[in-house]
Amino acid sequence: MDDIELIKQKINIVDLISEYLPLKKAGVNFKAPCPFHQEKTPSFMVSPERGIFHCFGCGKSGDIYTFLIEKEGMDFPEALETLAKKAGVVLQRSSNFRSEIKDKKTRLYEVNQKASQFFNYMLTEHKLGKKALEYLKKRGITDKTIKDFNLGYAPNSWESLTKFLKARNFTVEEMSNAGLLIPSAKGGYDRFRGRIMFPLLDTKSQIIGFSGRILGVGEPKYINSPQTIIFDKSNFLFGLNITKGEIKQKNSAILTEGEMDMIMSYQSGVKNVIASKGTALTLGQIELIKKYTDTIILCFDHDLAGDSASRRGIEMADHAGLNIKVIKITDGKDPAELTLKDVSLWEKSVEDAESIYDYYLTSVNSRFKISSAEGKRRIGEELLPIWNKISDPLTFEHYLQKLSALIGIPDEILRKEIKKVKTDSSIPVVFKESGNSLTEIKQVLRVRRDLLEEYLLTLLLKIPSDLTFVPNFPETIFLTENLRSVYVLLVIYLDAISFKAKSFLVADFVKSIPEELVPIVDQLYLREIDDKLSSSKIWKAEIEKMVAELKRALVKASLEKLSADIKSAQAFGKMEVLENLNKKFRDLSVKLKGL
Ligand code: CTP
Ligand code: MN
Repeated sequence: MDDIELIKQKINIVDLISEYLPLKKAGVNFKAPCPFHQEKTPSFMVSPERGIFHCFGCGKSGDIYTFLIEKEGMDFPEALETLAKKAGVVLQRSSNFRSEIKDKKTRLYEVNQKASQFFNYMLTEHKLGKKALEYLKKRGITDKTIKDFNLGYAPNSWESLTKFLKARNFTVEEMSNAGLLIPSAKGGYDRFRGRIMFPLLDTKSQIIGFSGRILGVGEPKYINSPQTIIFDKSNFLFGLNITKGEIKQKNSAILTEGEMDMIMSYQSGVKNVIASKGTALTLGQIELIKKYTDTIILCFDHDLAGDSASRRGIEMADHAGLNIKVIKITDGKDPAELTLKDVSLWEKSVEDAESIYDYYLTSVNSRFKISSAEGKRRIGEELLPIWNKISDPLTFEHYLQKLSALIGIPDEILRKEIKKVKTDSSIPVVFKESGNSLTEIKQVLRVRRDLLEEYLLTLLLKIPSDLTFVPNFPETIFLTENLRSVYVLLVIYLDAISFKAKSFLVADFVKSIPEELVPIVDQLYLREIDDKLSSSKIWKAEIEKMVAELKRALVKASLEKLSADIKSAQAFGKMEVLENLNKKFRDLSVKLKGL
């Protein structure tokens, strides 16, 4: 054990923090009003068992070192020295943390590099990769493209990569830190199995992670590397390492949703393209793009105007000074399909990209009835907050006139309304607008579902000490990938200790899980639950109730989706599909009643 760990074990975080604030016991944890922000009801929690703190109000969290760094304004070496003295530990070396972290990162780049060679070999040379190669060929990918993007295949086995890397002197810890391996009681197993592998490279062309696509249909369609010390999905753009030159030269970047769209566009000759991997634009990505161009051309499947996360990304891009345009593909295909069908159509779509604000106008025009008062009101509700945030005055004026012309309302009136918008702009968009688009409703549902999933896991982590319990409900009720992983690992762990008749210790459990999941477990464990739940009877009943509710929510979501499908089938007169959908709907309704 190193000094840092040793000191952590010797100093009780509750004692340390008690020197600064009055901590009160709250179940297995302690709580107090947060020292880092103003609040009346305490949301600052401390876990002696895990040696950590977390504030559910301001989000600050950490261990004894972080506490001193934040509270006393120390840097890490100072905090280390102070706490070493307190613990009576003589520091062995004046540790050079910077270079230690650098070495760690280098090893992760190396292990990823080796893994990519393995995947590429499996795809291009090995018989196990034959089907995968056929799949890629079927989707129109050429040998040259496979080479350009160093594509690969992860065989459908539990430890082929792990074995390969072990033989090349990589440790289980390194593989796990790189996200290639999921640790388990027996050591660990490959994260990516039976998938086409896309190496993810940063702008210096170092492999920072992978995404893996299933062959054909199935869920989840893509699996990505978890967050690691070298990979952060939200600051990443796929393909940028290859296309940054083209982007600079053409002074524009086409942003697509997925790897395949990016790759196929590149292969077809439209090369100033990158992909965001399905998420709305983040600040990190915007900063990255700005290094190479000031114009971004969005090409997404869904309606950008109807989706609040997309709108926020666009607003940030506008503030960062980017010109934003939108590509519309008329026949519902994505770029990957279009380039195969007709490259010139793809080129033309890019050529015809329109300004984001024109796009918004077209979008409302198609969704609302402009001639009605109701339509005008709803368009105003949707667009005025956006118009309000256009940063360039001339652009603002131009589009104000256009909006005014479109709905036939004088611009002075729109100006007045925009002023009103300004006052309540602090409310998050997703909660502010009522009954707008389906995406937003889904997002609200999603938030609630996340909370339920988190609550259920919190309960499981706080299993009453007199109880031996191994949950047996299916992992699929957790839609959130990370929570599902925690659940699976928890079941394995609880199963193992039930044999040894040991009781559950969260500190012991976290030792058996991948590093990236530890913060999630910690946050859940720090949540307060009702005191009554220390009774195993009440606890069990609560678990059953939550599981039932999550199952019901799943069925309900499917019903919602079905009813949308039914509406669209009706609208397009697709009678044969309609019958089938109606039957599914009836069956599911029956199932829902039974739950
Ligand atoms: N994605 C992801 N995880 C998932 C699903 C999607 O990370 N479970 C990301 C992938 O980068 C994917 C993108 O979101 O490329 C868009 O998703 P989708 O439209 O479903 O996939 P396509 O890009 O169309 O992929 P394909 O053409 O291979 O079907
Ligand atoms: Mn696609």
